[in-house]
Amino acid sequence: MKTIHTHGGDIYAAAREGGRRLDQLVDFSASINPLGPSPKAIKAIQAAFPQILHYPDPHCLALREALADRWHLSPDRFVIGNGSSELIYLLPAVLAFRHALVVGPTFSEYERAVVAAGGRVTRIQAARQEQYQPSVENILEALHRRRSAIAALFLCNPNSPTGRALEAAEVLQIARLASAQGLWVIVDETFVDYCEEATVLPHIKRLPRLLVLRSFTKFYALPGLRIGYLAGAKAAIAALRDKQPPWSVNALAQEAARASLQDPRHVRRSLIFMEQERRRLVRDLQTLPGVTLFPSAANFLLIELPPEVRAGNCVQALRRQGLLIRDCSSVAGLNERTIRVAVRTPGQNRRLVAALRQWLKR
Ligand SMILES: Cc1ncc(COP(=O)(O)O)c(C=O)c1O
Repeated sequence: MKTIHTHGGDIYAAAREGGRRLDQLVDFSASINPLGPSPKAIKAIQAAFPQILHYPDPHCLALREALADRWHLSPDRFVIGNGSSELIYLLPAVLAFRHALVVGPTFSEYERAVVAAGGRVTRIQAARQEQYQPSVENILEALHRRRSAIAALFLCNPNSPTGRALEAAEVLQIARLASAQGLWVIVDETFVDYCEEATVLPHIKRLPRLLVLRSFTKFYALPGLRIGYLAGAKAAIAALRDKQPPWSVNALAQEAARASLQDPRHVRRSLIFMEQERRRLVRDLQTLPGVTLFPSAANFLLIELPPEVRAGNCVQALRRQGLLIRDCSSVAGLNERTIRVAVRTPGQNRRLVAALRQWLKR
């Protein structure tokens, strides 16, 4: 079957294609916390199981209250979505923007969502020679030069698939200028749990045009439950909630997300693990001849393969061994040699490096 989206994480297609069971695959293509969900989330799912007899709370109130507690903001500053993807798709229509600036190379869904709502995007691309670190200066300049039709800015921080992060102060500098110009500023912080000091979420109070997206998919490892949220000004949040399909967030997801927020121990373990394991994986990947690595603030690494090879061939070869990695050659602004791999457990990471070494030698 032809894939319509070029994202990682489609283990079902890979299993069908290779005649494998799901547990015979190692997924480096979707960047999920390798320690899995919080044990408290698993318990909450089990305890909430009888609730599947009922519709879920359409207001997600308990979770919004838990988020309000965590961020010291009121619950009506949060809308919960069926994954942050649902919210990305609601934004252009609900906030009525037809033309958005997107800081890339980045996640393709912002552009798809804007286009699906009948609009278009202008990209501001970070350069390879800057190791894909976004230039704040270029973004500010683009905002100064912008044409009046541009009504929103999308910034992913830390960015996927490059792994590069701006500091909170830099994001705020951009958000202040964009807000002053009347743009909506959507900061996607799906991976910010790995560098929480970069979050600008608390600033939604002072910047009414700032909207911050977060997810329970990656760090909290609940991709199959589909749950994420957006924080922002009450009026914008109310408008988004109003346009959501009813009951879009299921009961098990709401309970698992709430429990995940109450497990600081799992958070600490996950951060320490990632810090060590990312360093080790970087060191091992650096021993591969001709391979370029880019610095990452998240739980994945962007890799450029040697000049004579193509990402697609590498992805296919590893897929035949049950190792799924992300082909980034179709991401606008990245070249045909670029792949992304999630940092996983030590044994899985060693398997990945060995497979890459073998393939590069062929
Ligand atoms: C940067 C970024 N934002 C948002 C999403 C959507 O995540 P979800 O809908 O699972 O919350 C993804 C998923 O890959 C992502 O990489």
